[in-house]
Amino acid sequence: KVKLVILVGGPSKGTRFRPLSMDTPKPLFPVSDKPLVWHHVSASCASLNGKADLREILLIGFYDGKNPEWSKFISNVEAEFKVPVRYLQEEGRTGTGGGIIRFRNEIQSGSPDYFYVEHCDVVCSFPLADLLQSHQSSGKDITILGKRVPSDQAHRYGCIVVHPESHEVIHYAEKPETFISDIINCGVYLFSTTSFFDLVEKVRQNSKREPGSDPNSFQLEQDLFMPVSHNKAINCFLSQEFWIQLKSAGMVIKCHEHFMRVNAEKLKLAKSGFQVQGNVMVDPTAKIDPSAKLGPNVSIGAGVVIGPGVRISNSIVLDNSEIKERSCILYSVVGWKCTIGKWARLEGVPDFSAQGDDKSNGITILGNGVTVANETVIRASIVLPHKELSGSYADQILL
Ligand code: GDD
Ligand code: GTP
Repeated sequence: KVKLVILVGGPSKGTRFRPLSMDTPKPLFPVSDKPLVWHHVSASCASLNGKADLREILLIGFYDGKNPEWSKFISNVEAEFKVPVRYLQEEGRTGTGGGIIRFRNEIQSGSPDYFYVEHCDVVCSFPLADLLQSHQSSGKDITILGKRVPSDQAHRYGCIVVHPESHEVIHYAEKPETFISDIINCGVYLFSTTSFFDLVEKVRQNSKREPGSDPNSFQLEQDLFMPVSHNKAINCFLSQEFWIQLKSAGMVIKCHEHFMRVNAEKLKLAKSGFQVQGNVMVDPTAKIDPSAKLGPNVSIGAGVVIGPGVRISNSIVLDNSEIKERSCILYSVVGWKCTIGKWARLEGVPDFSAQGDDKSNGITILGNGVTVANETVIRASIVLPHKELSGSYADQILL
């Protein structure tokens, strides 16, 4: 018996994800036509299918749970994947482990042998069954999904020193300034339920809390992994499959490409009516001129109107936007209800892979209700909602 906890976080941060998260909580932002967390659920259920009995999915976060978008998402997912889902709301930010401790009764109810934790801002293949197998054969209390990254990028993540044969974690450091390992913590874990809460109890008794610090706050990384890595309690499962962190909105197109690839059969791909290249998804209510050419990796939302000769590749166009004749959209996200003039060009950087400290915005992103004038070029720029752009821009954030 297993459960899955997804840490969905809350509204206080997320400025790097603007303007996409301004109207919708980031975990519910549609990528490849489905809310981001839908992809976590879909990949996790697919991996566990027939290998473990998934009892419940718990979304823990501090977004307002009364927002009807959450209840709509939950009932859709329950119906589609036939698994109970609950949203558990924390009062505020209590760290990556705070919510897990606060809702320990909900996690322990029904006595699951194991529970998984996934960060909602990572996207990967979620190899949960492999994680389980590795966990069971290791005999450890905790298994962390790890991945090797180029050495100069490791400092942005939790770094793990792993025994080369046993894969036991020897040392854990959270975002260390100096290089300790090129194996990083991917933000996906498997815990043996009983020993997890015992370990938490132990480390809390032994830790000296800073005076004035929030007693409910708990960081899995610093407060648990760091101290228990020295007690031989952690196993690392190394994966070399697709993994990325979705911190800034600029990473959305990369995730989109991945989702279109893995879900090609499940998502309704468009085949005809206009020129199609590669994976293209079009809402049935969109109106697309037969001379337009779309793809690869394009998703077109409901009510979108696309004029003659338009070219779109590697982009997301959200509901009710209009793209006028001969415009070209490459590596961009067009928010809800935008209007793109004739012969306009929106473009981003094709191989954008910035993680955090890169200066470029990468892709071009238009917030809701943005209007772009005829014959203009908007390159690698982020545009906040309801702007009217009458000229051309490159590498800017337009507030
Ligand atoms: N519910 C809830 N409550 N979720 C939270 C909270 C909280 O108080 N704080 C963070 N989270 C969720 C975030 O939504 C995100 O999905 C995840 O926990 C990690 O968030 P950050 O605190 O921003 O950490 P990070 O992403 O910089 O680093 C973590 O993830 C990396 C992998 O992506 C660390 O675990 C690193 O070691 C790891 O490499
Ligand atoms: P291929 O034709 O696939 O070889 O494209 P490419 O290697 O030139 O790729 P690029 O990323 O530059 O453009 C992707 C697609 O958009 C290509 O099919 C281009 O023909 C098309 N494209 C590029 N710029 C424009 C433009 O300004 N207007 C229109 N309508 N299409 C454009």
